Amino acid sequence: MSKNKTAAIVLAAGLGTRMKSTLPKVLHPLGGVPMIRHLMETLDGLEMERIVVVVGEDMPAVVDSVAPCPTVTQTPRLGSGDAVLTARAAFEGFTGDVLVVYGDTPLITKETLGRLITARRAPLDPAVAVLGFCPAEPGRYGRLILAPDGTLEAIIEAGDASPEQLAVGFCNSGVIAVDGKRLFPLLEKLDNGNAAGEYYLTDIVAAATAAGFACAVVEGAGDELIGINTRVDLAAAEAIVQRRLRGQAMLGGATLIDPASVYFSHDTLLGKDVTIGPGVVFGPGVSVGNKAEIRPFCHIEGTSIAAGAVVGPFARLRPGADIAEDAHIGNFVEIKNAAVESGAKINHLTYIGDARVGAKANVGAGTITCNYDGFSKSRTDIGGGVFIGSNTALVAPVKIGDGAIIGAGSVISEDVEANALALTRAGQKNIKGGGERYRQRRRAARKPGTKKTEH
Ligand code: UD1
Ligand code: CA
Repeated sequence: MSKNKTAAIVLAAGLGTRMKSTLPKVLHPLGGVPMIRHLMETLDGLEMERIVVVVGEDMPAVVDSVAPCPTVTQTPRLGSGDAVLTARAAFEGFTGDVLVVYGDTPLITKETLGRLITARRAPLDPAVAVLGFCPAEPGRYGRLILAPDGTLEAIIEAGDASPEQLAVGFCNSGVIAVDGKRLFPLLEKLDNGNAAGEYYLTDIVAAATAAGFACAVVEGAGDELIGINTRVDLAAAEAIVQRRLRGQAMLGGATLIDPASVYFSHDTLLGKDVTIGPGVVFGPGVSVGNKAEIRPFCHIEGTSIAAGAVVGPFARLRPGADIAEDAHIGNFVEIKNAAVESGAKINHLTYIGDARVGAKANVGAGTITCNYDGFSKSRTDIGGGVFIGSNTALVAPVKIGDGAIIGAGSVISEDVEANALALTRAGQKNIKGGGERYRQRRRAARKPGTKKTEH
């Protein structure tokens, strides 16, 4: 596709009232990133000559989310047709094709947009090419009214449609490609004499037909063209995104034992021969190296896991966790902002935060880095080959030198030299026969006739 010939207008000024949210609709996440980012990435892949996003008043977060792409503000919001007109100044002198896409229809692919542009450039030279689809429930989508020769005659919004028109299953996805020379003159002809009292972009088809231009229609797949108006739609779109991401993961060489139970982020990176057990959730910013194994029921975000590492079951890896080659992170272990060096083992019931765990160190069950004193965070540095006995509290800031051993049940608040043995437990006292004497004392104190307490 010629780079100089296509531009895009992204409509994102709508209030998203049906989401019942304080967050602008296009910022609701899909696969962990705002839905509009999906669309922007797709458009980037098409090398548009220019892209303009139409936002509403008081939407600084939307402006930030699409930066550095320029935005124009539509105020007041008078409908999707008016929204496109808002972008007019940015298209002064542009004579190529203009794609109009809706921020709430983010799952469309590059290939489908390419087909639409090709249809716009077909020999018939249609002024407008519309992407249609046949959703399972046509509901509130606009209906595509075709002429007997298969060209598009009009788009009728559901609220304005007759029962016969509502019976049409072929619907408007909202995505259109328009000849840039004809776009704005046609939009000037729109009026708002309809059920919603808005300037509908969809009326551009009737306007083009009335002006004697042809309009074309291309059919796309429903799972690319779902429009997100409610949180029910959002969940349906998320399911589509997850299906795609699971497919990509498996085709890329990862084994997913129960794909439907694994949730990815848009940016999850997986190496070859990675195995992922059931019930694993990847938040944003995770990479997993070759042959790593993620066992069932882990929650992982902002983490790098190197080749051959084993994580889980039931591990929680939080932002800044950096798990090196062949390290093992076991059940009920939480790691945050910490480097776990190669071959280290942290296998059970442990919290490691703001720390380094040196290569081949072994961290026993129930170890806690006490990194927060209620005011500030401090670091724990555990050297290579260190052995930390079970149920140890490491009160940061504290450093354990290479090869040191910490006895079980210690509270370590001072640095430990390399190869030292640190013990902080109170000495143990065994009293010969003391257990039996205690029992006798308690039995004798029991009132006659009372029953033994059940446990
Ligand atoms: C729209 C289409 C409908 C189509 C459906 C597909 C119109 C009139 N109708 O309906 O034919 O089947 O999408 O999902 O376009 N917007 C603005 N400014 C406005 C109004 C809307 O920027 O003043 C933007 C919204 O942010 C949104 C898009 O335009 O991205 C569509 O608006 P929305 O209200 O969601 O239209 P639908 O009722 O879904
Ligand atoms: Ca919509």
